[in-house]
Amino acid sequence: MTNKAFNVAVIGCGVVGSGVADILIRESEKLSARYSRKVALKSILDIRDLTGTPYEKYAVCDPKSVLNDEEIDAAVVTVGGLDFAYTITKKAILAGKHVVTSNKDLVAEHGRELESLAYDKGVRFLYEASVGGSVPIIRPLRICMGANNISCIMGVVNGTTNYMLTRMEEDGLSFEEALWEAQTRGYAEADPSSDVDGFDPARKIAILSSIAYGQFVDYKKIPTAGIRKITADDIAIAGALGGRVKLIACTRLENGKVAAYVEPQLVMNTSYLCSVSGAYNGILVKGEYTGNTFFYGIGAGKLPTANAICGDIVELLTGAENDAVKPGFIAKEAEITKDTGSSKYYIRLDNIPDGEFTPGIDNIKMVTCGSTTAFITGTLTPSELEETVEKLSAVFPGASAGLVLKVLDASV
Ligand code: HSE
Repeated sequence: MTNKAFNVAVIGCGVVGSGVADILIRESEKLSARYSRKVALKSILDIRDLTGTPYEKYAVCDPKSVLNDEEIDAAVVTVGGLDFAYTITKKAILAGKHVVTSNKDLVAEHGRELESLAYDKGVRFLYEASVGGSVPIIRPLRICMGANNISCIMGVVNGTTNYMLTRMEEDGLSFEEALWEAQTRGYAEADPSSDVDGFDPARKIAILSSIAYGQFVDYKKIPTAGIRKITADDIAIAGALGGRVKLIACTRLENGKVAAYVEPQLVMNTSYLCSVSGAYNGILVKGEYTGNTFFYGIGAGKLPTANAICGDIVELLTGAENDAVKPGFIAKEAEITKDTGSSKYYIRLDNIPDGEFTPGIDNIKMVTCGSTTAFITGTLTPSELEETVEKLSAVFPGASAGLVLKVLDASV
């Protein structure tokens, strides 16, 4: 065992930060034996008073206690938001410390700069925990599939909305009740609009796209829709049709451009993603040499996310000093294009006039639940979809397509 200990500071002792502290305290001896180097939690920086908690003896309240402590090798940044997280990360890197983070806002917004800065300083900026919670996805893309040509990544990457949709489906919870439960379980972001309006999965798919395609993908340019328009009747009809509603994040490389989106879809039980329930995430990666590879596990919450952070710490223990991987974010910015593929669509009709409903379109089966009527179209191009929607309102004046969801009935 080398004499020099590997000391870690945790910055932000919230849900995930306290999980990292718990695992490091519990597993320090095992890690030290396995990696021939004493691994220890040295300090926890938090503005809260940690007196009387298991973290009391590690508590510091001045950032300088971490930044100026030459014995600290790595800072784990688990504070949310951008302001303080960005400042402290930059300062820690400039002070010669590795940074490991779960903060995807930070990675999606400033990852390019921070990775580059870390590269110049000879330290690492690692963020496995920023996507997929417990699911290893960043390291597999970066290392295990490093020689592959990835053409598509599609998945359920937001635990909160998947948990909500599952609870609404299985126990008939309202949107608000389901959100409250997700918050109580520590899945939701501080501002849950990030989850329910799709910005969290947009950041995640941008991060994955950047790594997979070697081009920086700006999450703000990704067309994004959340789950607010999904009703209990949509969920019931989806079940009757043999599927489930899921918030899907997708990115495809098409002629060098990136077609990415986040939107709710009707996922049929012929797709792996249909079985991803509760706070689980499932991510399909399609590569030239591998075909489809499926990554699956708990996507949010204290210990699953903390475990991913600890995996990054293990990566630092196993040779960070010799690692010269060039930052993936430094490449050119990707051009974002629309996904123009054909698809079947779920269409919910609002304001249907009384009486027998025959939409004048062949081979469609109408399904009704409560006061909601919906159907699945044949395979349509985006312009054919527009025509179909127009045709409906022409046949039934007053009726409108209240919700249109792509139907996902294959793997990728
Ligand atoms: N709010 C996020 C989610 C946390 O629900 O997936 C994990 O990134």
